[in-house]
Amino acid sequence: MRKPIIAGNWKMNKTRDEALQFIYNVNTKLPSKEFVESVICTQSPILRDMVKRQGENLRIGAQNMHYLDSGAYTGEVSALLLVDLGVEYVIIGHSERRAYYNETDDSVNKKTHHAFNHGLNPIVCVGESLEIREANKTDEFIKVQVVNALKGLTKDQIKVLVLAYEPIWAIGTGKTATSEMANDTIKAIRNVVVDLYDKETAEAMRIQYGGSVKPANIKELLSMSDIDGALVGGASLDADSFLQLVNAGTK
Ligand code: 13P
Repeated sequence: MRKPIIAGNWKMNKTRDEALQFIYNVNTKLPSKEFVESVICTQSPILRDMVKRQGENLRIGAQNMHYLDSGAYTGEVSALLLVDLGVEYVIIGHSERRAYYNETDDSVNKKTHHAFNHGLNPIVCVGESLEIREANKTDEFIKVQVVNALKGLTKDQIKVLVLAYEPIWAIGTGKTATSEMANDTIKAIRNVVVDLYDKETAEAMRIQYGGSVKPANIKELLSMSDIDGALVGGASLDADSFLQLVNAGTK
């Protein structure tokens, strides 16, 4: 049984006060981490504040990091610092970072290794554009992203890795992939992992769906055989909405 993981990706939203108010509102109401993992990924400057106030059932993640320990990389954040701050998760290769900040399959792979080397849990994102979806090339496109992202990882690492399938055309658009569509692509991803590793490894790896997930559609998405959670943008910003999303993961 794969434990569901619901992660909020706040992107470039919320001030420190707003973030701490959110934590205050959800902390005592979150379901036990025994049944569902709840994660919030914030902007870097408030990570320490978030970690300090995270309740027992909430974990904090960063939205990006560099793949080197230190150096002349203005504006970047190191895994060493994230670990030092008590951060436990890091989103890697989000489509916005691929589109606006030259994140490549190669840097995604380097960052994923780097996260594991430092004991951080990576949430590795893949996803196709509308053009690729409409040309019926989704599976072959995603396969390349997955193969490249996972290059050189051990079976044990794959088993704890979280992969997020986020079709770019569904992000922030209100258009969700139908649950069947999301499940089919996620199954195809799992099959890629079966071919690269084996069935046992692929069955252990958790794969989230992301893209306009809301309290109204999460139950149906999570009812699908291969969808193990959600990576949520807009609907994770509101405390009540986040609680509803996470509670859906306990069913
Ligand atoms: P939305 O839930 O706002 O569509 O964003 C999805 C996303 O990009 C999460 O990483």
